[in-house]
Order: sequence, then C-alpha cells, then structure tokens
Amino acid sequence: MANQIIATEALTKRFGGFTAVDNVSFKVDEGEIVGLIGPNGSGKSTIFNMISGALRPTSGSVLFKGQEIGGNLPNKICHMGIGRTFQIPRPIKRLSVLENVVVAAYFGQNGKVSQAASFDAAKDALEMVGLPTDRGASISTLGAAGLKKLELARALATKPELLLADESLGGLDNSEMDQAADMLKRIRSEMGITIIWVEHIMGVLMRVVDRVMVLDHGEKISEGLPSQVANDPKVIEVYLGTDASDVQASASSQKEL
Ligand SMILES: Nc1ncnc2c1ncn2[C@@H]1O[C@H](COP(=O)(O)OP(=O)(O)OP(=O)(O)O)[C@@H](O)[C@H]1O
Ligand SMILES: [Mg+2]
Repeated sequence: MANQIIATEALTKRFGGFTAVDNVSFKVDEGEIVGLIGPNGSGKSTIFNMISGALRPTSGSVLFKGQEIGGNLPNKICHMGIGRTFQIPRPIKRLSVLENVVVAAYFGQNGKVSQAASFDAAKDALEMVGLPTDRGASISTLGAAGLKKLELARALATKPELLLADESLGGLDNSEMDQAADMLKRIRSEMGITIIWVEHIMGVLMRVVDRVMVLDHGEKISEGLPSQVANDPKVIEVYLGTDASDVQASASSQKEL
C-alpha cells in the first residue's frame, strides 16, 4: 500500500463570522495526482494557503507524512518538501526568468545548496515547464501563460515532494493544455512529485487526475474517480447552469475509463 503524504483532519478556516473552509478531511497518497475543484470562492486556495503556511488554520489538522504542520511558517513548510504555485503569479520583476527560478531553488532549499546546484535545479525546472533557460530571457517577454509556467518552475526548483498547483494552466490554448497535461504527468513520473491540482479548465484536469475532490461553500461535497464525481448528483447540482456538461463530457472522454 502506498504511503500517505498529506492529510487534513476537520480543517477549518474562518474569516470573522464567515467560514471559508468547513471541516474538510482528506488524504493523498505518495505518487497520486489529485484534482481539487469547486466553484469560485469555494475554499480551494484557502486550503492551499493553510497547507503551505500562508494562513493559520482556525481549527483542525494538516499532517505531512504524519507530522502536524498546521500553523508552521511558509518557509519551514517549503523546506520540509511542500511547493506551491500562486493563483496570481508573483515574479520578481527586476530579475530575469532564470534568476527568478534560481532564487527559488536557493532559498527554497534553505540556502543549503551551492549556487551551481541552484542553477542546475533552476534549469531543470525551466526545461520541465518549457521556458527558456538562457540568462538573457526577461520576465517582460512572458505572457499570462508564461508567467503561470514560471510559477510552476519556481515551485519545482525548490525540489518538493508535494506540489500544490493553483490554477497553473490559466491562459493556455487547447494544444498548450494538452502539453500541460503531459507535463504534469512527467512531473510525477520523472521527478516523483505528488500533486494536488486546482484547475477551472475541467477537460484537462479530468483527463490527468487519479481522483477528484469537490468543494462547495467550504465543504467537501464529493470525492472519487473523475467518472464517479462527474455523475454525482450533488456535483451536477453545484455546477448546473455553469459547466455541468463540461464536467460530464470531460470525464466521459477519458480514455482510461
Ligand atoms: N484573507 C481573506 N480574508 C477574508 N476572506 C477571505 C480571505 N481569503 C479568502 N477569503 C474568502 O474565502 C472564500 C474562499 O476563497 P478561496 O480563495 O479559497 O476560493 P477559491 O475556491 O480558491 O476560489 P477561486 O476559484 O475564485 O480561486 C471566498 O469567499 C473568499 O472571499
Ligand atoms: Mg483560488
């Protein structure tokens, strides 16, 4: 049986009187790619923020390889082996593409690696996401999709065991999305990284993930194989009038199902 890498138990976040994440428990095994979906404002990024240390849970647990990490600082959690991308890219604008990733590689590994090793890790990460590795490439040459790839490269350069990818494919066209789906599979197979993936673009997500968890108003309302989740009446109701047909169409087009 695979080892559990991350689990939450009754994880809850309140902002004043408003409950953004409500008693959410889940488990992810090493090597899985798990999709986290739900309408806008359903609590997806807030869960990532609590796992990665950006937000302190109001109550409940976050267990990384069996150890409680809820409320730890983001740099500590990063050094333990959890990388995350931000839904809104946060590049350091005065640095080049390569330098942005080198900084992540160096500080993300607690400055315990040499500069040369940081450059190597950065170049590997840039190659994985398909961005230029030359020293001259400037941030200003990147469009929305490029900035998303840069976010992913920065997270990968920290050499995580678990990657929390928050809407990392925004701004991609259809063929780029297929490439991105392959890329996520390679991140798992070649780098051995477990992935929790938040994505609004349902088609590509449903094709890649092993399992899906669905949030609505901060609560986990469904969980299972993509085909099961897409046929769950609770999920269809939540997506009705928005993209219920997308959820079903994309799950039924899965080759392996
Ligand atoms: N720091 C904060 N202070 C107050 N409310 C917040 C804060 N962060 C998030 N929220 C609220 O919590 C709810 C969940 O937000 P969250 O960003 O987790 O949703 P999401 O599922 O990631 O949505 P999206 O699909 O739009 O990215 C929203 O109603 C949001 O406005
Ligand atoms: Mg979000």
